[in-house]
Amino acid sequence: MSVVKRLGVLTGGGDAPGLNAVIRAVVKASANSGIECIGLEDSFDGLIEPDRTRPLTPRDVTGILRLGGTILGTTNRGNPFAYPVTTSEGTRDYSDRVVEMFHEMGLDALVVIGGDGTLAIAHAFCKRGIALVGVPKTIDNDIVGTTNCFGFDTAVSFATDAIDRLHSTAEAHRRILVVEVMGRYAGWIALHAGVAGGADAILIPEIPFDIASVAERLRERDRWGAKFSIVVVAEGACPRGGQRSLIAEAQDGYVERLGGIGALVCEALAHETGKETRSVVLGHLQRGGAPTSFDRVLATRFGGKAVELVRRGEFGTMVAFAPPDIVARRLDDVVGKTKTVPPDNDLLLTAKALGVTFGD
Ligand code: F6P
Repeated sequence: MSVVKRLGVLTGGGDAPGLNAVIRAVVKASANSGIECIGLEDSFDGLIEPDRTRPLTPRDVTGILRLGGTILGTTNRGNPFAYPVTTSEGTRDYSDRVVEMFHEMGLDALVVIGGDGTLAIAHAFCKRGIALVGVPKTIDNDIVGTTNCFGFDTAVSFATDAIDRLHSTAEAHRRILVVEVMGRYAGWIALHAGVAGGADAILIPEIPFDIASVAERLRERDRWGAKFSIVVVAEGACPRGGQRSLIAEAQDGYVERLGGIGALVCEALAHETGKETRSVVLGHLQRGGAPTSFDRVLATRFGGKAVELVRRGEFGTMVAFAPPDIVARRLDDVVGKTKTVPPDNDLLLTAKALGVTFGD
């Protein structure tokens, strides 16, 4: 058992439904073990700027289980090793300040809740001697070592509901409806929401698509008498021999922003099939709102397990879901990697067997 008396908790990167459920679980489990929790605001900013921290007691987290967002705030451009400040050098390394503030605040350990970027920063601070445990978060579900991240189920449920709604209008007008979903370089949201929503084509980053082959599948549906089609496109999907569609290049501490492929696919399918087509981008609607019950339970289990690992002194780890258990993984083994959809994924193969085209 470790002798942690004061535990810092922060949320980093893009938000995901379930962040507040993790914070609540960490605070409650800590309080019941005699550990004081300190909330750090806006990711590692809470350890860079003064007065960006506050004690968190069970009273402070009452009622937040079902809330989207994060009561601590978050940012996806707050890397202390390359902090974006307006100087001629562009960025500044504030990592020493983070380590100093960690000790000055009397913290014994941190729980860092974040996606691949935030967990990589956490890993670097582990190497600088900070005792910490990571909690994987992302709607994209692309973190290695865990079957699920909380937020994914909520995003898939929302996208599925949207596809259901688009079905009726697509059918009424005999149109092709193209739905662009998030997921960055992984096709998990598109694959799961596409299958759950009964899509006819699912285009994912792992399989470069041939638009002529997608169009042929949709024409075939027309020949059967199914005069409408639903196409789900992951934001990171790209045409064979082509490029990913970007809204903005990486700059000033921001990673590149994906998007726009849905509109391009829509236009190309209109041209190839001669049918009326429309496109919809689900965007941040997938990230907002209340977490599903699955995500609330997973987030709560992650938070509870993180405190257990802190108490046991198992630092440099990340909690993970290995059904039916919540386990610990070494951060060494998970950071810097992306969990993409493998070609032999059973859901992918099942969808193909059912006639869904992936444009390959
Ligand atoms: O990683 C989660 C995610 O929602 C991705 O699916 C998406 O590409 C990205 O974040 C968008 O981030 P933001 O709009 O916050 O920069």
